[in-house]
Parts: sequence; structure tokens; C-alpha cells
Amino acid sequence: MRSTVADDFERMWGDLLPVGRSAASGGYFRQPFTTPEVELRSWFVEQCEARGLRVETDAFGNVVGWWDVPSGPSGPGVLTGSHLDSVLDGGAYDGPLGVVSALAAVDVLRSRGFVPARPIGVSVFVEEEGSRFGLACLGSRLAAGALAWDSARSLTDRDGVALGDVVAGGSSSLLDGVATFVELHVEQGRDLVDRGVAIGVGSEIWPHGRYRFDLTGAANHAGTTRMEDRVDPMLTYAFAVLGANKQARLASQRATFGRVEVTPNGTNAVPSRVTAWLDARASSEAALDSLVDGITAQARDRAERDGTDLSVTAESVSGAVAFDPALAARLAADHEGGDWPVIPTAAGHDAGILSAAGIPTAMLFVRNPTGVSHSPAEYAEMDDCVAGVNALAAVLKDLAK
Ligand code: HGY
Ligand code: MN
Ligand code: MN
Repeated sequence: MRSTVADDFERMWGDLLPVGRSAASGGYFRQPFTTPEVELRSWFVEQCEARGLRVETDAFGNVVGWWDVPSGPSGPGVLTGSHLDSVLDGGAYDGPLGVVSALAAVDVLRSRGFVPARPIGVSVFVEEEGSRFGLACLGSRLAAGALAWDSARSLTDRDGVALGDVVAGGSSSLLDGVATFVELHVEQGRDLVDRGVAIGVGSEIWPHGRYRFDLTGAANHAGTTRMEDRVDPMLTYAFAVLGANKQARLASQRATFGRVEVTPNGTNAVPSRVTAWLDARASSEAALDSLVDGITAQARDRAERDGTDLSVTAESVSGAVAFDPALAARLAADHEGGDWPVIPTAAGHDAGILSAAGIPTAMLFVRNPTGVSHSPAEYAEMDDCVAGVNALAAVLKDLAK
């Protein structure tokens, strides 16, 4: 007999599945303040309203639906939720799983006649991926006051459109009444599948950052320019990529050059400029600093040799996050089949921003059978998604009773 939780989850999941999906790759293009992402946030507001949740939005596009205590306000609430935006050509679960599971968890609690003694909120934060304006967790940073609107409004996308052109901006009181935040997220890795368990609890988020490498050289003819006469930024870039890979492997950390822009990007010309973005992550802030410094130093040495110029700019930096250990232990304990494992992640989350802002925060992870994420291939089994909804419902009941 199919559970009503699965039916409820699948109905909502089916609403989202086609939105922003590429016919070519099956991946998602849900960049913030574009048509598909606006459609998703409208869908979310409709879902909240259909449940009689009190909808609050802030000047940045973040949204919370509150399930208020029937007898009136009763102090700070328990917030859950995640994001609906995706990376370019992303998967279906990174973000939306936390939002749909939160709505489904509210439905589960109501179906069991639970009445919260504290408000329960379901949230959607905008631009968690930083895929359009370059800064990770942009919406939650603005909501948490970790980023001033005046410095955010001038962030631009690849077409030069500024954030201030697409959203009103100003201030946010969305998180004022929040005592605890719990984010459910598909695991972006293989820890749970290798352990053979469906649910995990977050212990920490690795520090990580995004660094723009601006390389300039001298445009020239690909045929008539002798190799020894070139000032080729593509060469310096190639060595930077190889160096980053080697240094990350040697230090057991993570470094990725996944995005590059070449000017003029011609087939028969030595380029004048190469702009490339390094995503670096490490198990501690000291390790991250030494990894980025090492990669930068090696790239500078190569630039010296190639006669190119190199400047490196940190565009997005997220410090180490240690989730509230008592809260993590409370969530992990006393479950059928044993305690849920408490595991680290190297993926950034809005939960990391709220934790750093001083809100007691926890994360629940749902098993990812392949560990693959930021890819159209990302998925989770329906049974595990249902287990996630029930796990979140149990956590919300425990925190809001
Ligand atoms: O990039 C990240 O770690 C996250 O998925 N936004
Ligand atoms: Mn992501
Ligand atoms: Mn995410």
C-alpha cells in the first residue's frame, strides 16, 4: 500500500520536475530571478497559501511560510527549508528536496493531529548557488545580515545585469523570529550510501571559496608567431589548472577550475586574456589558505615565465561551519535501526550562513545512491526521500512541541 507521504511528495515533485529543465541534457537551469526560478518561488507561495501558512517575503526574494501556533505567537520559531535555484545544468534534488520535504513534513504532522507549541516555518532562500551573481548563499547572507545590501546590489551576472536591477533590495527581518534552523538536503557525496543508511546529520561544512584568476597576455597570430615569441595567457592558465589539481591531491583537499572565459576565443589567435575561476575547499581554514596561496604562488611563477600578468580576486569566501553539536546529537539519537551518523560535508549550504549568524542550526542529509551532484545525473530513491520527510517531521515535532 503506497504511503500517503509518498503520494504527497510525488505530487509536489511532479509539479517541479519540468520547470527549467533542459531537453538536451535533462539538467536544470534555474538561475535566480529568471523565468523558471520565479515560477518555482510562485509555486512555493501557492503551496504555503494552500496550507494556510502565513507567507512572509523580504526585499531580496527570500520567502518563509509560517505555521503559526493557533493560540497566538509563542516565541521564536523553528525554521526549515532550503533553496530552489540550481547550478547551471544542475540536478533536480540539490535544494528542492529540502523545500518539498519541508512542506511534506508539515503535512505529515498535521495528518497526525500535531499542534505546534512554537511556530514552524518553511523557507526558500534565493541564489544559494551563486550561479548568476557569483556569491554563494547570496539570499541567506542578505537575510542573516552577513552581507550588506549596498555591497550586494552591484554584483553583476555574465551579461552585466546588476542584482539591484532585478530585486528591490533593502533590508530583511525574515529571520528575526527564528530560534532554530534545520535544513534537509540530498547528500552530495557517498558517505551514507557507503554506510548503507538513508539519513545522516551534518557535523560541519568545510571552509571554501571562489577565486577569479585574471590572466593577460598579448594577442597574436597562431601561425606566424614563433612559440618563443608568445605571451600566451592560455599557457599560464593550463599550468594553473595542473598545479591546482596536484596541490589539492597532495594536501587531500579540493580544487577545481570549472569555468573559463577566453578573449577573443578565436581558433587562429593567441588569446589576449583568460579569466578563470578556482573553487577551493579544505578541511580547515588554515588548510584552505595554504592551498589557495600555494596554487596562486605556482600560477604567479608560471606567469613570470610566460611574461603574462596575473591577478587573483576572492569573489566568494565561506568560513568553516561547525553545527551546534548538542543539536546534532539530539537529532541523531534514538532512532529505529540505530543513531543517524553525524557527518561532515564539503558542500556549502544556507544552513552554514544561518549557523555562522548565531542561529542554532542543523542539517539532515538524505542518501544519494551515486553521490553525484551538480549534474543532471543527481538523484535519490523515493523510499529515501520519504524517509527524509518522516525524519524531518520527527525533528520538527521534537523542536516545536
Ligand atoms: O557549491 C556548493 O557547495 C553548494 O552546492 N552551493
Ligand atoms: Mn549546490
Ligand atoms: Mn544546495
